[in-house]
Amino acid sequence: MKILVTGGTGYIGSHTVVELIGAGHEPVIVDNLSNSKASVLDGIYGITGKKVPFYNVDCTDLNEFGRIFEENTDIKAIIHFAASKAVGESVKEPLKYYRNNLTGILNVLECMKRYGVNSLVFSSSCTVYGQPEELPVTEDAPIQPALSPYGNTKQICEEIIRDTVSACSGLHAVMLRYFNPIGAHESALIGELPLGVPQNLIPYVTQTAAGIRECLTVFGDDYDTPDGSCIRDYINVTDLAMAHIKAVERMESGAQKQNVEVFNIGTGKGTSVFEVIRTFEDVTGVKLNYKVGPRREGDIEKVWADASYANNELGWSAKKNLRETLASAWKWQTTL
Ligand code: UFG
Repeated sequence: MKILVTGGTGYIGSHTVVELIGAGHEPVIVDNLSNSKASVLDGIYGITGKKVPFYNVDCTDLNEFGRIFEENTDIKAIIHFAASKAVGESVKEPLKYYRNNLTGILNVLECMKRYGVNSLVFSSSCTVYGQPEELPVTEDAPIQPALSPYGNTKQICEEIIRDTVSACSGLHAVMLRYFNPIGAHESALIGELPLGVPQNLIPYVTQTAAGIRECLTVFGDDYDTPDGSCIRDYINVTDLAMAHIKAVERMESGAQKQNVEVFNIGTGKGTSVFEVIRTFEDVTGVKLNYKVGPRREGDIEKVWADASYANNELGWSAKKNLRETLASAWKWQTTL
C-alpha cells in the first residue's frame, strides 16, 4: 500500500518508514528538513535497500503539498508526523507552534478530502493527560488543560481530526498517544538527531557519556516518587514505529470499531530518571557525570501507560526492554 509519511526523515518518521518497507508497504516521504537531514534517506537505504521517494516540501504550503497527491494518485493513507515538538521553545514561540502544527493537520485533512485518501494516523502524545489522577493512565482519562502551546496543539489537532472525520463519511483516523520514545534502530544507521543542546533526557545522557556535554542535570529529586525523580514510560522507537503499521492496516482492513480511535503507545512500565541513569551505566559500562538540579517548570511528576487497549485491539505490544533500548541509543551516539 502506498502511504504518505509527513516528517518521514524525522526521528519517529524515519523508523516508521523502515518498518513500513519491512511490512511490504510503499512509503513516500514529505519533509521540509527543518529538524532533520537529507542524509537520513541514506540510512533508510542502508537498512532497507530501498530508495524512498522524497519531497522536500513544507506541509503548511497547501499548493506544494497538494502536488504530491497529484503525482501519487494511489496514496491510500497518511501518517502525519510533521510538526514542531520542543516544549520549551513552544512557550517562547507559541505562534510558530500554532502555525506549523495546526496548519499542517488542516492541510493533511484538506488533501485527504480533495484527493480521496481515507486513512490517517496522527502522532499524539501522553501530554494530553497532564498529571493523571490514576496510574497507569488509560485512554479514557480526562484531557487536562495543556501546560504548553506544544501540548495544546496536540489537543487541538485531536479535536480537529474528530470534527473532520465525523463530518466526512469515509474518513478514518487512529490517534496514537506516545509516551516517551527513545533509542535508535539496531543497525545504528538511523536514530535521534537533536539540533543543538538536547532537551530530552536520553540524548542528553548519551551526549554526556560521549563527552559532548559536561554534566547531566537531573531535574529535581524531591518528587513524590520512590527515589524522588520523575517517572516516565520509555518506549523503544522501533516498537513505536510498529504501532503505526498496525494502525494503518487496521483502518485499511475495516477492523476499526469507531471512525476515530485512540491508543496509548507505551510499555506500561514507569522508570525514574535515576533508574535510567543507573541502567545506562550498567548496560554501557560508561560512568555518567550528573548532578541534581531544581525541578524543570512544567514537568509532570509521574506518568506511565495502560497499553492494554493497544495490546488487545491493535495487536501491538512493546517488545524491547529498557536495557536493549539504551544500548541502541548508545550505539547510535558512538557512530555520530
Ligand atoms: N530530564 C532530566 N534532565 C534532562 C532532561 C530531562 O532530568 O536534561 C528529566 C525530565 O525532568 C523528565 C524526564 O527526564 O522527568 C524525561 O524528560 P524528557 O524531556 O525526555 O521528556 P518529557 O517527558 O518531559 O517530554 C516528552 C516529550 C514531549 C511530550 C511529553 C509528554 O519530549 O514531546 O513527553 O509527556 F510532550
